[in-house]
Amino acid sequence: RTVYVNGEFLPEEQAKVSVFDRGFLFADGVYEVTSVLGGKLIDFAGHTKRLDRSLKELGMEMPLTEDELLGIHRHLVEENGIEDGLVYLQITRGAADRDFAYPEAGTPQTVVLFTQAKPGLADSPQAERGIRVITIPDERWGRRDIKTVQLLYPSMGKMMAKAEGADDAWMVEDDCVTEGTSNNAYIVKNGTIVTRHLGTEILHGITRSAVLRFAREAQMKVEERAFTPDEAKEADEAFITSASSFVMPVVQIDEATLGDGTPGPVARRLREIYLEESR
Ligand code: PDD
Repeated sequence: RTVYVNGEFLPEEQAKVSVFDRGFLFADGVYEVTSVLGGKLIDFAGHTKRLDRSLKELGMEMPLTEDELLGIHRHLVEENGIEDGLVYLQITRGAADRDFAYPEAGTPQTVVLFTQAKPGLADSPQAERGIRVITIPDERWGRRDIKTVQLLYPSMGKMMAKAEGADDAWMVEDDCVTEGTSNNAYIVKNGTIVTRHLGTEILHGITRSAVLRFAREAQMKVEERAFTPDEAKEADEAFITSASSFVMPVVQIDEATLGDGTPGPVARRLREIYLEESR
């Protein structure tokens, strides 16, 4: 696989970053994930815009123009023959002698991009079955609106879910669901779609924003507000959204089976619309 590192396209074995990289030492970096369907990048502009915001919030520069970023994404997709898959973009504050204070301005950032081939990404059998989630306390830091590479707690959450035979975890704070380990969370009750309002408590999903737009265009009712795990367990249906899962139905939350235990009509329809409109 060819990857991009600091201005060069290299075979992955030859790509290197410093042991003093702040991404490694302090998780001082941000990332983006853009999906590819049929060789086409999905929602690229949205991901770039959020990247820009994440960098600004952390006092980092945007090291490349949007056109340059697009060119690198396209080159990797082509070079690695990605039909369906994901492109990861990672930017850290760069390498400097270990110090909590940021290095001086002008320290070169580390920029890495790599692809993951996921044949049939949009036709996953999971979407037909629906996934099972557990609820866990949200023990992440307070600025979840910044897409940083601090992903240890979400990894732990994923492992807690697996240990219980579930697929993912919904995180809960002050008795309200924030989001999934790497996705936004939704419930549907009496035809109304409910998902948490934007704030510092959740990542502002690019897929979320597109899906809510499509839902409103299709005259579906949307409420952006917090909901409790109890409300979720009594919902008619539930689903998650992200660049890697698009719209994925949820059929079980902890011990509660939703509806008849199969993906609900709203989640199915939104998945269809999202895939149709974005491809
Ligand atoms: N995760 N919330 C969290 C905590 C996330 O990590 C993600 C994305 C989302 C959904 O955002 P978007 O729709 O822009 O993908 C919400 C990516 C896919 C990941 O870490 O792999």
